[in-house]
Amino acid sequence: MKKLPLLGNITPAEFLRDYWHKKPLLIRGAIPGFKPLLKFEKLAEMARQNHVESRLVTQKDGNWDMQHGPLAELPARTEPNWTMLVQGVNLYDERADELLRQFRFVPDARLDDLMVSFATDGAGVGPHYDSYDVFLLQAHGKRRWKIGSQQDLTLVEGLPLKILANFKPEEEFVLEPGDMLYLPPHYAHDGIAEGECMTYSIGFRSPSFQELGEAFLQFMADSIDLPGRYGDPELKPAKNPAEIPRDMLDTVTEELNKVRWDQEDVTVFLGETMSEPKHNVFFTGPAKPLTVGRFMESAAKRGIKLSSKSLMLYRGKHVFINGESFAVGRADKVVLDVLANERRIDGAVLDKATDDVLEALYTWYQDGWVELG
Ligand code: SIN
Ligand code: CO
Repeated sequence: MKKLPLLGNITPAEFLRDYWHKKPLLIRGAIPGFKPLLKFEKLAEMARQNHVESRLVTQKDGNWDMQHGPLAELPARTEPNWTMLVQGVNLYDERADELLRQFRFVPDARLDDLMVSFATDGAGVGPHYDSYDVFLLQAHGKRRWKIGSQQDLTLVEGLPLKILANFKPEEEFVLEPGDMLYLPPHYAHDGIAEGECMTYSIGFRSPSFQELGEAFLQFMADSIDLPGRYGDPELKPAKNPAEIPRDMLDTVTEELNKVRWDQEDVTVFLGETMSEPKHNVFFTGPAKPLTVGRFMESAAKRGIKLSSKSLMLYRGKHVFINGESFAVGRADKVVLDVLANERRIDGAVLDKATDDVLEALYTWYQDGWVELG
């Protein structure tokens, strides 16, 4: 793989080997000449929407306050010490989506979203740590980052946000537009705006095993098959009627031990789970969808692309899109793998698609999962 200016002129393999999960990396000029993709007004408008996750963090006289969106009103832009944070900006802005996709040397199943923060002078969300890796790209203005490798991650109790009780910064940098700071999970950090600034956070997903385990058992509930019903043709008179009979316990244990799973089940579970859009994501299909014939004609000319909101993954013969899974044949797999990896397919590739795939694509188009062009 090529050396990337985005990673400070090292290859993704070198970055992953030396920094990922291990140590911070400051990259000056990661995106030279970077300009914010969204103006403050656009961001504030997003934060007013019900379906967009946003927060307003303010600090006054040492007191922290956090309000969850929708944010109908914001403090004056000239007032210091407040931050507006908007999550999932990539879902609603194509250029933000493109920016996030520059980080696809990390697989899609691990990529989360682009969060944008707008801060007035002196503002920050306090010294804290995150449970996942993060790239902090400075988009506008300056932010002073203080970071530390401390093990003590005790939080101040009783606050509406996570603030480290004993923050001990070891390094300090002022980031300017286009500079980027990578931090591994659990690395203490505190970013303070020097004048008005905007920071873009490229975040990753790391589900807890407990979360996965609970979801997996629910998933398995839909697919287990245990025919028959408990019976006891050899039943003897009960001496202690309240005691659960030994035979009953043995039989039920034996039956439940028949619940088994293999990697195929885990594949389908993981694909469906990791491709499931967040609860606040809604798709809107075209207001006046083309007929299937016109759609095919247009797709053959212009190709098809995934909506920024669509999550598409695959493994072996299993293809996943927005929480649904399909087992596909070899020819369909070739076409759908291209769509998943490139997030678009040319008309020429569509030529090789079977009727099953074309039918699915048309349904996805009606549902707003894919778009023409
Ligand atoms: C921010 O952009 O204000 C906070 C980002 C972070 O510290 O994770
Ligand atoms: Co953070």
